[in-house]
Amino acid sequence: MPLLARARALESVVRDVARDAIMPHFLRAVREYKADGSSLTQADEASQQALLERLPEVLAAPVIGEEMTPEEQLECWNAGQEGVWCIDPIDGTTNFSNGIPLFAVSVAYLVNGETQFGVVYNPTTDESFYAARGAGAWLNGKRLPLRPPAQRLAFSVAGIDFKRIPNTLAANLVVKPPYYSQRNFGSSALEWCFVAAGRLDVYIHGGQALWDYAAGRLILEEAGGVYGVLDGGPLEAAPLPKRAVVMASNPALYSEWLNWLQAHR
Ligand code: IPD
Ligand code: CA
Ligand code: CA
Repeated sequence: MPLLARARALESVVRDVARDAIMPHFLRAVREYKADGSSLTQADEASQQALLERLPEVLAAPVIGEEMTPEEQLECWNAGQEGVWCIDPIDGTTNFSNGIPLFAVSVAYLVNGETQFGVVYNPTTDESFYAARGAGAWLNGKRLPLRPPAQRLAFSVAGIDFKRIPNTLAANLVVKPPYYSQRNFGSSALEWCFVAAGRLDVYIHGGQALWDYAAGRLILEEAGGVYGVLDGGPLEAAPLPKRAVVMASNPALYSEWLNWLQAHR
């Protein structure tokens, strides 16, 4: 089956899971806290379980889920170099549990660490972002980006997630911002897609996990965007270490943004 057909089959599964396993808990779920301080609700676990049951309909492969133990994640990663699913059952759990309608299910299929196709779906807005390698990126069937992005940093709308950004850089972003305006939406997976769509022009997050970026990075790349890590290298996929990710909607903006960040950290 071509990758694009698989992406569309995945989209249909993800929509079902969001409707049946997540939305019944919206505005009812109680937030608990994991050992690392991040939040969890029964909907995160229900979504992960439903995806484990349904993903083999698209492709049979090991699954790395955020709500598994680090040992299970590593085992699946090692077993799945020739094909592995990576899922964030709810990205934006704090938004979800506070009733803020900005969260998503994020699912990607990777081969040798490279995303082949992926879906990020927000059930409250019914927005489905998806991409297949070499075949483009879409939002509900409309090709991304939706608008011409900014060409200069000074005119950009920036997504800034201050979590884990080094102190000097964080202070410089506050006192001498190089962009026009700044946002943070509380869902990394959606923020990748917002850059892909042209809603944001540039973005930085001080430490994302594989499930935060696995689908979004392909959606951005297929929309013509560029991404990497704060140190300047490529974003190499791995299940455990968190990465300081930097991105922009086009190559010229990316180099202007990365240069500014590196000069101010
Ligand atoms: C979180 C969200 C949030 C980001 C955190 C992530 P989760 O994911 O994407 O916006 O700041 O770093 O961990 O825990 O809601 O899946
Ligand atoms: Ca999550
Ligand atoms: Ca996440």
